[in-house]
Amino acid sequence: MMPTFKYSQVVNQEDIQQLGNILEQCFLMSPGESEIFFNRLGLENLRIIHQGEQVAGGLVMIPMGQWWGTHRVPMTGIAGVGIAAEHRGSGAALAMMQHTVKELYAKGVPISVLYPATQRLYRKAGYEQGGAFCIWEVDTQSIQLREQPLPVIPVVPNHHEIFHDLYQQQAKLNNGHLDRHQGIWKYLIRSDEKEAVYAYLIGCADQPQGYIIFSQHQNQDGSLILLRDWTVLTTAAVQTFWSFLANYRSQIKYVQWKGSAIDSLTLLLPEQTAKQKSAKRWMLRIIDVSQALEKRGYPPEIEIELHLEVQDDLLAENNGRFILSVANGRGEVTSGGKGEMKLDIRGLAPLYTGLFTPQQLQLAGKLDATETALLAATQIFAGVSPWMADFF
Ligand SMILES: CC(C)(COP(=O)(O)OP(=O)(O)OC[C@H]1O[C@@H](n2cnc3c(N)ncnc32)[C@H](O)[C@@H]1OP(=O)(O)O)[C@@H](O)C(=O)NCCC(=O)NCCS
Repeated sequence: MMPTFKYSQVVNQEDIQQLGNILEQCFLMSPGESEIFFNRLGLENLRIIHQGEQVAGGLVMIPMGQWWGTHRVPMTGIAGVGIAAEHRGSGAALAMMQHTVKELYAKGVPISVLYPATQRLYRKAGYEQGGAFCIWEVDTQSIQLREQPLPVIPVVPNHHEIFHDLYQQQAKLNNGHLDRHQGIWKYLIRSDEKEAVYAYLIGCADQPQGYIIFSQHQNQDGSLILLRDWTVLTTAAVQTFWSFLANYRSQIKYVQWKGSAIDSLTLLLPEQTAKQKSAKRWMLRIIDVSQALEKRGYPPEIEIELHLEVQDDLLAENNGRFILSVANGRGEVTSGGKGEMKLDIRGLAPLYTGLFTPQQLQLAGKLDATETALLAATQIFAGVSPWMADFF
């Protein structure tokens, strides 16, 4: 017999407690840690899947934004997807994700993003790879930059607001960067008795050109500085960033930071000593085809049309032919057209983000297009390779 699931917004304390217990086991949290996690992201953002009377699992929605072509597109992040061990393998996670996607559509959210522990589950709900999350590491001895053109000012990171404006300027220019939820900001500046957090503004206090936020750690390879967040807006700020970190070399062996797959910070280093420690891909779902395409920005110099034919098994409204007309950096979507590029809703995700070129996606079997459509899409979705500095 097929199990029956009920999807709901959490209403009572008992459900929250049960979901907390499930997620603590799922994600190896310490007892009580789920409460901090829930409160940071907001109890109103919890969703639960019940099987009969029991809480089978749940997830957390994180309403925020994401930058695409210098425009902010409303985006809901999905975190903490977890199903109790005794309920796994019966379709609970997939049912929950399908309900979530439908809820987001009903709310008018154009796109959704998540970090997959397994792609198989999320592909079934219409998500596909969207961009990169990479951790880089460099030996402090090899940085070698001595010139420090700007002052560096220590700040007590009690409030994340002082970093917002600087971060936003950098985020706007990097496809895939978040317009962060408050809970994500709070996580970046968290400190406790085991972990102190240090923050510095780069440049003068009245006109900073960047900042760094970090903690210091000791592991089997030695001591390291872990950059929780950074922004550098000018050449002088990048030089200062490196020389400041190089000055830790008497005690700190490594610096780790989050950067793009091809990280431009490393271009200032004398040798190729920076290495990628880890690389993950986050997944994106186009929830509403028209909204997603109209809310993002495009290269301002092109004026071109793309004729799409989209198939979405979950959201009927996304099915059919659409014309995307791009001019003056904006896109307009109308129904109809010649359907010159045929693709499943999943194939539209890496096209939209520019993670792969239309040719690469065609080769991978993610779309089927005429030569004209491939050329148009190549111009429309060209841009900085998508990445983000946040894991959620
Ligand atoms: C991952 C998890 C949520 C899956 O829950 P579930 O209810 O067992 O998943 P479903 O039964 O709905 O499975 C849906 C699809 O995903 C696949 N799937 C589920 N878990 C998988 C895994 N670990 N690896 C690969 N595929 C997996 C299923 O096989 C199924 O696809 P199929 O129908 O083609 O076989 C659950 O194992 C869990 O809570 N794990 C611990 C926490 C975690 O890793 N969460 C994910 C964070 S992104």
